[in-house]
Amino acid sequence: MKKPIVTVIGSLNMDLVTQTNSFPVQGETVIGNHFMTVPGGKGANQAVAAARLGADVHLIGRVGDDAFGEVLLKNLTDNRVIMSNVEPVTDCATGVATIILHDHDNRIIVTPGANNYVTKEYILQHENVILISDIVLLQMEIPLPTIEFVLELCDTSGIPVVLNPAPAHQLSEESWQRATYLTPNETEKELLFGKEPSRYLREKLIVTEGKHGVSFFESGSLNRIDGWSVTPVDTTGAGDTFNGAMAVALAEGKSLAAAISFANAAAALSIQKLGAQGGMPTRQALEQFITDNCP
Ligand code: RIB
Repeated sequence: MKKPIVTVIGSLNMDLVTQTNSFPVQGETVIGNHFMTVPGGKGANQAVAAARLGADVHLIGRVGDDAFGEVLLKNLTDNRVIMSNVEPVTDCATGVATIILHDHDNRIIVTPGANNYVTKEYILQHENVILISDIVLLQMEIPLPTIEFVLELCDTSGIPVVLNPAPAHQLSEESWQRATYLTPNETEKELLFGKEPSRYLREKLIVTEGKHGVSFFESGSLNRIDGWSVTPVDTTGAGDTFNGAMAVALAEGKSLAAAISFANAAAALSIQKLGAQGGMPTRQALEQFITDNCP
């Protein structure tokens, strides 16, 4: 089978991760018990997830001209992500995410740095790779006008787009409609689309609900794919794994339900290791997991 071409347009961050026994409240200092710096950023994570599952993955994004940027570029190259569309920004810091982990849950602050330089002009310079893609993946850690521009470009060019609206930012109804699929979690879905999304958007929504699985509309009826019963170590990057895997499956021609099921299993594997990218499965590991666990 020809490898699908997945283009991810999004953020690259260095994740500064501290594990604690409690989240600090305002004005409080708590002692952490473990610290690590690991590659992250929703764009980079989704690119790694898709590459590990066998797609040809192009990433369009930016790093700063600092040590974190160099580490992120090497990590992506090691994961076989095609990096010719990631250019460093001079005199700028690479994006960072400060992550506090407690009780298998997280709180995250993202400082975008160089990610703010993924502008419309930058997209135009790298438009060729978008136009040869089987599918495009977007998230919301780059400027909103860029996201709206890519949605319009892909819509006009007939290229399917999965938009993961995380972190949640409002777009115009017209922009949401240009996405092929929208993949919020439950909180993002409520914030952005309310309890009763318009009927135009309802069929685009694929809502990830953590251990409860995934819900989506197809041909007018609500469907649910159950979550897997696994013990989570770190849920950071679960949504990114889901999006990367779903994009690969859709680009390979799987049905929507089959693509969601495949992605749901990939996310279940991803949360069993530390770090956003630590547990993202290879194709072989994912297929083995599915074979071993599906009767
Ligand atoms: O989705 C997880 C990611 O969100 C982290 O890797 C962090 O960089 C933030 O972008």
